[in-house]
Amino acid sequence: MRRLVPNRVRDEPRLRAAAVGLGLIPPRTMHSDDDARVLAATAAGARCVVEIGVYEGSSALVLHDALSPAAELHLIDPFGAHPDALPSGWGATEWATRRVLARAGRAAGGPGIVWHIALSHDVAADWREPVDLVFIDGDHSETGCAADWEDWHPFVAPGGAVVFHDARADQPDGRGLPGPTAVLARLRGSMPDGWSIAQEADRTVALRRDR
Ligand SMILES: C[S@@+](CC[C@H](N)C(=O)[O-])C[C@H]1O[C@@H](n2cnc3c(N)ncnc32)[C@H](O)[C@@H]1O
Repeated sequence: MRRLVPNRVRDEPRLRAAAVGLGLIPPRTMHSDDDARVLAATAAGARCVVEIGVYEGSSALVLHDALSPAAELHLIDPFGAHPDALPSGWGATEWATRRVLARAGRAAGGPGIVWHIALSHDVAADWREPVDLVFIDGDHSETGCAADWEDWHPFVAPGGAVVFHDARADQPDGRGLPGPTAVLARLRGSMPDGWSIAQEADRTVALRRDR
């Protein structure tokens, strides 16, 4: 039935927000099964997880399902339209995405959720605690993605990880977008001391802090 709905109606942010918020349609899936596997495997056992770029909540649900009730999942997104983060005309709402995560929590327990309706850079400016996993999937410009890495990787505890989405456009078996791929290409060429690539698949790369 959904295939019969024209794209301009299916993508209209207010209609989508109403349908997603009320649970009539699922949040739009922005990752493949391989992407989700890397994200979930990296999140296993983590206690403090930060997701930058939540949109309608589909990857937040992957993290939610991978984390224990003892964990805290911080979700950062200013919501609305962001040309460097989403195709033109797309946008999610805080109301709908909060409802997606609230439904998941009621159904399955899961981690504590902390919302940050803000830009990732502003949240990082006030951040103090160590983090086990940062998932970077917000501003996809090269500058924005590089800023997320610079702002957040110092908070990652030894054994923890930073996961990039859309960062494998230059790999033979990969996909991605130019901004995150350029940031990863620089990191591959000159990996910071104590960091290594732990896993990668499709559009996703997980960097682990070894020490
Ligand atoms: C590609 S979507 C995220 C997709 C989501 N992770 C998923 O898999 O469903 C990008 C999101 O990043 C958000 N965004 C853009 N700039 C941001 C920033 N500086 N900080 C945090 N979020 C940002 C946008 O509002 C948008 O919802």
